[in-house]
Amino acid sequence: MKFFIDTANLQEIAEANNMGILDGVTTNPSLMAKEGITGKANILQHYINICNIVDGPVSAEVIATDFEGMVREGEELAALHKNIVVKIPMIAEGLKAIKYFSNKGIRTNCTLIFSAGQALVAAKAGATYISPFLGRLDDVSTDGLQLIEQIRLIYDNYAFDTEILAASVRHPMHIINCASIGADVMTGPLSAIKALVKHPLTDIGLQQFLADHAKGNQ
Ligand code: G3P
Repeated sequence: MKFFIDTANLQEIAEANNMGILDGVTTNPSLMAKEGITGKANILQHYINICNIVDGPVSAEVIATDFEGMVREGEELAALHKNIVVKIPMIAEGLKAIKYFSNKGIRTNCTLIFSAGQALVAAKAGATYISPFLGRLDDVSTDGLQLIEQIRLIYDNYAFDTEILAASVRHPMHIINCASIGADVMTGPLSAIKALVKHPLTDIGLQQFLADHAKGNQ
């Protein structure tokens, strides 16, 4: 399973990258705003900065919601850097844009997926990735993991190339469960990625090993 970090924070991206297990980055307009990145020129430069840290796919989201606008913005984003993946919302106009980019060989990430039907049509349009929002479904008492399982089954039935990018991941168990189901990619916060490393028995065991070594080598 590929690991993407879901943030626009350059320090966090660099920290995750330095862990040696990062495959890519996802951003969205809310995450960009959270970092105080506003204005077109600053936003485009920020994407380039992210691409210069991580050698892997970096999702950059369009703001337009009409086909022509999405094509215009998406082409501009894709031209920024070879790592850019154009992130497009799951709406009817978005599907058309995904098909357009797919025909041109430009990679897309179809975002805001909340149903198996949406995942099916996005794959048919040629999306490179689809992003089902696991945590936001859990937030409204709906099993997000069950949706990912269903999408996995559908994609395997027809050998779709579209990768399932489990998004809105909140904690380490989400990551482990996504890996068990066979999600191709997960994107989550640095805290969830770092939490996978920790185990109290590892810390206690290491402390003991070092103490015993010190005793024997006094
Ligand atoms: O980038 C999209 C998605 O991962 C958002 O996550 O935590 O805002 O639901 P969250």
